[in-house]
Amino acid sequence: MGTTITGMGYYVPPKVLTNFDLEKIVDTSDEWITTRTGIKERRIANDENVTQMAYIASLEAIRSARIQPEDIEIILLATLTPELRFPSTACLLQAKLGATKSYAFDISAACSGFIYGLELADAYIRSGKAKNILLVGVEKLSEIVDWQDRSTCVLFGDGAGAVVLSEGEGEILSSKMLSDGSLWEILYAPKCGYISMRGKELFKMAVRSMEDACRYVLEASGVSVEEVSLMIPHQANIRIMDSLAEKLGIPKEKVYSNIHKYGNTSAASIPIALCEAHAEGKLKRGDLVMLTAMGGGLTWGAMLLKF
Ligand code: UT7
Repeated sequence: MGTTITGMGYYVPPKVLTNFDLEKIVDTSDEWITTRTGIKERRIANDENVTQMAYIASLEAIRSARIQPEDIEIILLATLTPELRFPSTACLLQAKLGATKSYAFDISAACSGFIYGLELADAYIRSGKAKNILLVGVEKLSEIVDWQDRSTCVLFGDGAGAVVLSEGEGEILSSKMLSDGSLWEILYAPKCGYISMRGKELFKMAVRSMEDACRYVLEASGVSVEEVSLMIPHQANIRIMDSLAEKLGIPKEKVYSNIHKYGNTSAASIPIALCEAHAEGKLKRGDLVMLTAMGGGLTWGAMLLKF
């Protein structure tokens, strides 16, 4: 029995902001954004706060796992846009869910937050500390982007994804999480300010670091690239994903992407993609799935799991 994703859910706000809408806000074009990033539109939260988005995604994950909120023992919530300075958004979510038998805390690892959380949840489950864990990635990045800075505001979007992890037939075969705090200034946001990013440097780092982490988990688990059914990378830029796939020798059809619809939703991007890949029939029980992410910190990592 291994750590298994037994339930999944996601929420994206209904408000769509297209590249054409952005042309009216900053000096940009649909053509530039599409060719440089693969993004066509993103979702923007108006009235929804992060706790509400996390709540809707979590309810669906709990329902599909066929458990009750009281069955959850730990709530892990990855975000870089928490609701309050404290308490954690995880605690606010716990209260909203009525998950009275759990304890809850946030994970701060930017775009790598969801896979960091998966590794943590796997350790809890394998050590016997918990049987059911709720893991959420949620972001309201529209609050921390400078809507006058065309080099960043076109990239990000809002949303939430959640999974329930329990003992089951699935397994996390291998994972490798890394960080290098000396590179923090490449991508950060100050306490009360906007996202600052050195895009070109980050692009190169992203491809190189995710490639290394993916190679590590493949080798550690004795799985060949051909055996991987699906790769779900963090959705930051379609050119990063294409370049990563090419370097690893994974055909494009096996790389899941929904960046055209949602942009970069940081910690929420992988769980939203997991949900959509599953709904589209691209993710089946027993499949070998590789997840990889890179973001502020800098943080990065990869994970190979049997779904
Ligand atoms: O989630 C964490 C991980 N995030 C990432 O990994 C992001 C990594 N970086 C990237 O995805 C890319 O570097 C960007 C999409 C951010 C930028 O693409 P790029 O091909 O690296 O473009 P650039 O920053 O070098 O800019 C090229 C040109 C510049 O003009 P000049 O100096 O050549 O005249 C920019 O001013 O494009 C200009 N530019 C824009 N033009 C139209 C920058 N942003 C825009 C824009 N619309 N929105």
